[in-house]
Amino acid sequence: MPKSTGTAQLKVGDKTIDLPIYSPTLGPDVVDIGKLYAQSDMFTYDPGFTSTAACESAITYIDGDKGELLHRGYPIDQLAQDSHFLEVCYLLLFGELPNKAEMIDFEQRVTNHTMVHEQMHNFFRGFRRDSHPMATMVGVVGAMSAFYHDSLDINDPWQREVAAIRMIAKLPTIAAMAYKYSVGQPFVYPKNSLDYASNFLHMCFAVPCEEYQVNPILSKAMDRIMMLHADHEQNASTSTVRLAGSSGANPFACIAAGIACLWGPAHGGANQACLEMLREIGTVDRIPEYIARAKDKDDPFRLMGFGHRVYKNFDPRATVMKESADEVLELMGIHNNPTLQVAKELERIALEDDYFISKKLYPNVDFYSGIILDAMGFPTSMFTPIFALSRTVGWISQWREMIGDPTQKIGRPRQLYIGEAHRDYVPVEKR
Ligand code: CMC
Repeated sequence: MPKSTGTAQLKVGDKTIDLPIYSPTLGPDVVDIGKLYAQSDMFTYDPGFTSTAACESAITYIDGDKGELLHRGYPIDQLAQDSHFLEVCYLLLFGELPNKAEMIDFEQRVTNHTMVHEQMHNFFRGFRRDSHPMATMVGVVGAMSAFYHDSLDINDPWQREVAAIRMIAKLPTIAAMAYKYSVGQPFVYPKNSLDYASNFLHMCFAVPCEEYQVNPILSKAMDRIMMLHADHEQNASTSTVRLAGSSGANPFACIAAGIACLWGPAHGGANQACLEMLREIGTVDRIPEYIARAKDKDDPFRLMGFGHRVYKNFDPRATVMKESADEVLELMGIHNNPTLQVAKELERIALEDDYFISKKLYPNVDFYSGIILDAMGFPTSMFTPIFALSRTVGWISQWREMIGDPTQKIGRPRQLYIGEAHRDYVPVEKR
């Protein structure tokens, strides 16, 4: 239970209710309304949770006005520059940067779990070849609970840790298998001599009939994409994982729930939608037409890869992603890439436009990630699975934090009921 640092008073009719205030390490104070219903017979109302802190967390901090993202206190730009994905995984999971021995041990533990149960190959084969890889992933990750019975006991901290390691290790394998299945190629087993990102690229692009050498610059770019997506505090998919986990559901089922939520175009599905939009725009001269559509209240069209619930200045992940896009295209010898040209010009025009300025809409992480993944050879349908495998560490860290909290209880929001009041049943012949 946090310590109260003050009291807010809520006046309801002639009654004054005292509500404790808690102060975080960083960010706005919170008012504890947990006893409000008992004291006033009233609920609070906050659809979309725009003003609601749903939990305590020590993992990730975002300052949306400053465009700041910290993992366990470390700024994302420093991590993206000097760290690597598995080190960030360790940091998110265990709270501190590892020393050398801890890092080696962690890498070995993850590496030892990269293969999936052989029986899962048959499970994949039940899907249609043209299934979206996210559809396959939701199913296969949920089904992991049918394969790994020795890490399902959420009350055993060791089993929770094993489940976390398993998921970090196996999600790239599962995403790569979903891809291979969709293009009709044989599954490629993980190669444990490769680092995490290179292994993923190898499982996606190697074929049994020829040697595949992973380009270190592409592997570095892949690792960076993974790092930039690793965690993002209480976003929709993470909150989904926490809510699913609050009922005591097993960790594999909870992560499958997170993947399902991530799929939507307002969340992780935006990277696929963004590249498709940039291609649809096609040429720089068509940008004004799309800007006009985005501003039109009667048109549901939105600029994909723009805007964020929390960032109201810039998305620090987008800055790093833009640099990576330039590096990768340069390496691949892709000059004057029309999609990148449209993206840069769209960003320039939108950032000078009153509509976008007044609503504080800036490019988000998904604006440039698709350009990099496309240049690497991934189809758009793989963009969101790559987001999912990268975010798995964030989901599982948040889940472990929640389950490890002795005061944790089932999440159960209330509602503002607007349906019919009581009425009597009418037999069908009288309706
Ligand atoms: N294009 C045009 N207008 C926009 C956009 C956009 N991309 N985003 C927000 N707006 C407008 C919106 O119409 C609204 O206008 P008004 O106040 O006149 O009604 C205002 O800006 C506020 O929008 P909102 O929907 O209330 O804001 P939100 O915080 O609920 O939504 C968002 C955040 C990310 C869902 C939204 O900006 C969006 O749909 N963006 C496009 C999808 C996208 O890129 N999503 C990826 C997010 S980053 C990756 C991740 O973490 O998942």
